[in-house]
This record gives sequence, structure tokens and C-alpha cells, in this order.
Amino acid sequence: MNYPDTETISRLAEAASEARSNAHAPYSNFQVGAALLDSEGKIFSGCNVENASYGLSICAERHAIGAAVAAGVEKIEAILVLSEMSPPASPCGACRQVMAEFGDFPVLLINPEGEEIRSSVAELLPLAFTFDRD
Ligand code: THU
Repeated sequence: MNYPDTETISRLAEAASEARSNAHAPYSNFQVGAALLDSEGKIFSGCNVENASYGLSICAERHAIGAAVAAGVEKIEAILVLSEMSPPASPCGACRQVMAEFGDFPVLLINPEGEEIRSSVAELLPLAFTFDRD
């Protein structure tokens, strides 16, 4: 797996942290930020957006992917997820499936204490259901 360099990871962490500070999480009180890198080096971020109808809540990862797609991004190089959990929180099943839609790429899970887990979409969701788009 081709992980981003240290400087790029720092930029992703900063973007995820800024997005996380805007999380709307009054029900779980668990704020999450995510930031992804596209093939041009651009960064798109997202936070979790909860709802009084709990099941409608959107995770930070899916929010970041939606923002990138809306801006025309087709290829994701990496995604980073920031939460205050130790070990760092890992994406839910729905987010793993949404990530798999865009192929296999690095997934970095971090927390403010500096813990970092390096994974990938294929590792998080083996045998994913996808249509062959080639
Ligand atoms: N959450 C995320 O946004 N991303 C994750 O990787 C784990 C969970 C959110 C969903 C919900 O708003 C809150 O965290 C508690 O589950």
C-alpha cells in the first residue's frame, strides 16, 4: 500500500481536526473528522452529522467522500479518520462499503494522542461487493 508521506498525513490530520470541530454529534457526543486526498493532492474533509432520527446520521468518512465526489473527484488516494478513541476508531460497515466503491486505498486511523493505525479498504472489507467498472 502506498501511504502518503509524513507532510501529507499532517495536512490530512489538520483538515480532519478542523472538520471534527464542526461535528454535529449531540446524541453520541462522539465527534469524528475525516479527510481524504485526491489524485491532484487536493484534500476534502467531513465530520459526522447526527440526526434526532438516529439512523439518518452520517459518518465523517461518508461526508468527506460525498464532498469530494460533488467536487468532481473520481479517484481517492487515501483517507484519514480522526477520533478521540484509543485505539483510534475504525470505520463502520456502511462506510467500508462506500469506500470500496472507489477502489482499494490507504485508510489511516488516528487520535490526538498520536496513535496511528495504517490499514486499507481491502483489509477493512475483504471480498467487497463491487461492480467491475473497467
Ligand atoms: N462515526 C463516524 O463518523 N465515523 C466512524 O468511523 C465511527 C463512527 C460516528 C457515527 C456517529 O455519529 C458517532 O460516530 C457514534 O457512532
